[in-house]
Amino acid sequence: MDVRRVGVVGAGTMGQGIAEMLAACGLDVHLAEHSAERLTHAVAMIGLSLDKQIEKWALTEAEKRLILNRIHPENELEQLAGCELVIETVTEDLDVKRAVFAELDRICGPDVILASNTSTLSLTEIASAASRPERVIGMHFVYPVIKTDLVELVRGLKTSDETFERAKQFTEETIHKKGIMVFESPGFVTTRLICLFINEALHVLEEGVASAEDIDSAMRTGYSFQHGPLELADRFGLDFVLASLERMFREYGELKYRPSIVLKKMVRAGSLGVKSGTGFFKYDKDGDRL
Ligand SMILES: NC(=O)c1ccc[n+]([C@@H]2O[C@H](COP(=O)([O-])OP(=O)(O)OC[C@H]3O[C@@H](n4cnc5c(N)ncnc54)[C@H](O)[C@@H]3O)[C@@H](O)[C@H]2O)c1
Repeated sequence: MDVRRVGVVGAGTMGQGIAEMLAACGLDVHLAEHSAERLTHAVAMIGLSLDKQIEKWALTEAEKRLILNRIHPENELEQLAGCELVIETVTEDLDVKRAVFAELDRICGPDVILASNTSTLSLTEIASAASRPERVIGMHFVYPVIKTDLVELVRGLKTSDETFERAKQFTEETIHKKGIMVFESPGFVTTRLICLFINEALHVLEEGVASAEDIDSAMRTGYSFQHGPLELADRFGLDFVLASLERMFREYGELKYRPSIVLKKMVRAGSLGVKSGTGFFKYDKDGDRL
């Protein structure tokens, strides 16, 4: 599959990272978002992310311009008609995603793979909104997309072998990431394990065992984690972590997935982590720790 033109639907935390990574791999990216304000913000955030790489001498100004020129912001899904692969990364809500897939199914040609970045929803239910569910697959990227090399390739009940093989080939040969095969299950491997880790850190915080700073230091210094669990939660988005735990709690029916009270309180207060500037720690507008 020679994919040169990729559609990305949803320009939030993950859509920004996926669009930047694809453009850095030399692909033409059509980034569709229904909120004009968020679309503008997303392009600005991608620019900031590229600037940080320039500061570290990992990128030149000319390369930044090339990458940004490959990203085409779109207000309408219709603009994705000529894409050879579309990756959906809208809000984690089944009805919203099914509506997007029904539209993509109508707009895109029959050979186009339609991928979802869902973390916890049923791929089979998402795919059933399309007339050809066999060409729908999960491509679950890990945050931060430009720094992580894994994609969980999620098979719904009707995902065909051909779709899986084409998605794996794209993952490994075009964007040079490791693709692992997972079968539909809430949270797959990565979200299931990392959310439990974060939730346990929240229980440790609630019980007064250690401060947020020291919990994160323990895991960074003791186990060489790049970020501690609480900063990781801030970077994922506390609303995303809460929604993931709630869904896994409902689906598996096991108490270990019950979200901590402190997480619920933070989300209700609008402290969502990096995207709101405050979570367990404070961040500037570029997402750096204050
Ligand atoms: N945040 C993470 O760490 C993470 C990691 C892996 C996967 N995911 C998954 O990625 C997806 C997106 O998560 P996020 O954290 O980026 O969410 P987000 O809330 O930051 O972004 C979602 C974006 O989708 C847009 N959107 C909603 N409906 C739309 C529509 N119909 N058409 C176009 N745009 C639409 C919203 O305006 C928003 O900008 C979810 O499925 C989530 O489970 C998230």
